[in-house]
Amino acid sequence: VSVEPTARTVDDAAEGLVLVPGGAGFVGSHLCDRLVERGCHVLALDDLSTGDAEHVAHLARHPRFRLVVRDLATGLPDEARVARRIYNLACPASPAHYQRRPVQTTLTSVLGAWHLLEHAQSVGARLLQASTSEVYGDPEVHPQRESYWGHVNPIGERSCYDEGKRCAEALCFAYRREREVAIRVARIFNTYGPRLTPGDGRVVSNFVVQALRGDPLTVYGEGRQTRSFCYVDDTVEGLLRLMDSAHEGPFNIGNPREHTVLELAELVLRLTGSRSRLEHRPLPADDPRRRRPDIVAARAALGWEPRVALEDGLQRTIEWFRATLGLPSPRTVVLPAVAAITAA
Ligand SMILES: NC(=O)c1ccc[n+]([C@@H]2O[C@H](COP(=O)([O-])OP(=O)(O)OC[C@H]3O[C@@H](n4cnc5c(N)ncnc54)[C@H](O)[C@@H]3O)[C@@H](O)[C@H]2O)c1
Repeated sequence: VSVEPTARTVDDAAEGLVLVPGGAGFVGSHLCDRLVERGCHVLALDDLSTGDAEHVAHLARHPRFRLVVRDLATGLPDEARVARRIYNLACPASPAHYQRRPVQTTLTSVLGAWHLLEHAQSVGARLLQASTSEVYGDPEVHPQRESYWGHVNPIGERSCYDEGKRCAEALCFAYRREREVAIRVARIFNTYGPRLTPGDGRVVSNFVVQALRGDPLTVYGEGRQTRSFCYVDDTVEGLLRLMDSAHEGPFNIGNPREHTVLELAELVLRLTGSRSRLEHRPLPADDPRRRRPDIVAARAALGWEPRVALEDGLQRTIEWFRATLGLPSPRTVVLPAVAAITAA
């Protein structure tokens, strides 16, 4: 992990406009909340392909917030040209979404990063690139350290995302080496929380919605594959700390506690009180068997580690889905007979 300060930095006291490509997405909208709370002027740029203007609707009238709808791969709008800090979160993150339009996924990652780096170079802005644990592919070492080069299928169904993100990282470091652009790279691991999209194929949203609806929980393979789940507030805190730090990374931002998919399913069933059964399906292509971040570097350099326990984070996520989808608790038993007796 490179921890040398980048050559050009912006003055922390005068951040100016903060640009958040992907600001109407799941992680991006939580980040916008925190930035506005901090007193920043925030411009969210989003093509709403997988995000939702509803995620930032509560900020719509805020004097320090604006959402511009635009495809980042086509360039930056004029109003973004004064941005001095950029958190690039634009890119579909769930496999179901990014595999739907693989060409656009790759172009968003690569051309999106390129437009932002050109801008950063021209005004001396600092760019934080949201990279991903997917740069490690189906890892052969465990847990994954930032020094691990990864094990990615370059032509597989996931490559539009994995290789797009790897190229975006490479581009960031090329701009830093050749043109002294200030970069920060965060490799985000599985993040969950309110504002996940139901039906986007991510395991937490899948299980929670299925459990609340009383539908079978779809477990791919035997469910012995592991994931580490980081609550969105923790992930956002990691991104903010990295942006403010003198370190460029890359840093793993994720929760080092590892759970099997079956354990997650059982926890969701317990917390929702659902009687849904498990339904096993074939493993998708190139599905990683194990995923767990080593966060020693982020702990040491950023003083960051996740604080929200899985059970607490899931509880908040379940409540949000219940309220948003208008789904009753499976424990709520409707007793028409009692109502009838009372009425009588
Ligand atoms: N959530 C996770 O578990 C996770 C894990 C690793 C990395 N990440 C990264 O974090 C970022 C945010 O992920 P998320 O979970 O919030 O996903 P998301 O799909 O909810 O958010 C991505 C946002 O980017 C927008 N977008 C996509 N293509 C765009 C384009 N061409 N121009 C403008 N906007 C565009 C989408 O509309 C959406 O609002 C992504 O870059 C993702 O790769 C997320």
